[in-house]
Amino acid sequence: MSTPSLLILPGDGIGPEVMAEVVKVIDWFGAKRDLPFEVSEDLVGGAAYDKHGTPLHDDTMARAQEVDAVLLGAVGGPKYDDLDFSLKPERGLLRLRKEMDLFANLRPAQCFDALADFSSLKRDVVAGLDIMIVRELTSGIYFGEPRGIFKEGNERVGVNTQRYTESEIERVARSAFELARKRGNKVCSMEKANVMESGILWREVVQKVHDADYADVELSHMYADAGAMQLCRWPKQFDVIVTDNLFGDILSDAAAMLTGSLGMLPSASLGAPMENGRPKALYEPVHGSAPDIAGQGKANPIACILSFAMALRYSFDLGEEATRVEKAVEKVLADGKRTADLLGEDGIEPVSTSEMGDAILAALDASL
Ligand code: NAD
Ligand code: IPM
Ligand code: MN
Repeated sequence: MSTPSLLILPGDGIGPEVMAEVVKVIDWFGAKRDLPFEVSEDLVGGAAYDKHGTPLHDDTMARAQEVDAVLLGAVGGPKYDDLDFSLKPERGLLRLRKEMDLFANLRPAQCFDALADFSSLKRDVVAGLDIMIVRELTSGIYFGEPRGIFKEGNERVGVNTQRYTESEIERVARSAFELARKRGNKVCSMEKANVMESGILWREVVQKVHDADYADVELSHMYADAGAMQLCRWPKQFDVIVTDNLFGDILSDAAAMLTGSLGMLPSASLGAPMENGRPKALYEPVHGSAPDIAGQGKANPIACILSFAMALRYSFDLGEEATRVEKAVEKVLADGKRTADLLGEDGIEPVSTSEMGDAILAALDASL
């Protein structure tokens, strides 16, 4: 295998802080596992706007299309609140997702045993939890036309359009069924077919794909509002959840709290395979730029480090090395290391972002 290329886009707020810890892990793989990566770094979000006047420079977009995988920290912040909509940091991320056609966003929510008491839900409900939300990422209400703020008589109207084609639903459904086969072999599809035509079509297409090619996988359908309730009531009933862009955004933040903190949740955004057989891919934590704690060394780097582990698994076919990273995280948590977001009532002193990164490196060393 030629040296895999990574484009690192740290972004804004805590993005650069957590990404610095990921870089340590990447370097560790070069030094200790003879798995070097060719790493380049660029700007996205507010950081790109500050330098170039745009949240994503065309050159960065082009580079993202060329590399084997993109790693992104987070974008956004109050400094950019008053910018024109088209220039907001979030537009940079949305452009990457859309132009790379990253239609399947994998958001696993796993509860590490050491954190089962940190969830806002009871230990019994979350201990051992391992679910995968597959969020459609390049269509739906995030991108549908018409959209905008229009004048209507004496007042303005804000418009967004939920729109899904059959092929868009089919391809993300296939991703979910393929994943389910490698896990618990169960898919629950969530929409609101009771009130939305796009939901009716979603349900029909998912069922059709299932019956034609994945009849061995157990499929159920749920209205997304009831799904949100079930996710809090008894999340272990789920294996893979497949849902649209907006429902997936909301349900995955809710799922984060099952694991103890938003600072724990990684994600992989995957597109169609490239010429070399690897999927187009971007890896990023589910959390945002956390302006309330940025610059204080408090951020939890685990979501970003686990996102790199997903890159090892899904882009580079290095599942065992991905597991090595996940086990190192598990060990550090079991040893009682906690960033501030994971503190309960047990009087443990929090560690800083870089101390958490160093502890994970030490656990990686110990795994050799
Ligand atoms: P957020 O995820 O940034 O923060 C929500 C809460 O979780 C905050 O209290 C924050 O301190 C905490 N938190 C998040 N990540 C953490 C971590 N790694 N360690 C410790 N605590 C953590 O969401 P928000 O406050 O709604 O949004 C802030 C900005 O981030 C907005 O501009 C938003 O658009 C953007 N955002 C970006 C992404 C992304 O880049 N993928 C995702 C979500 C939000
Ligand atoms: C996420 C974020 C993004 C989204 C924003 C920052 C564009 O909330 O990745 O979950 O809404 O998709
Ligand atoms: Mn979100």
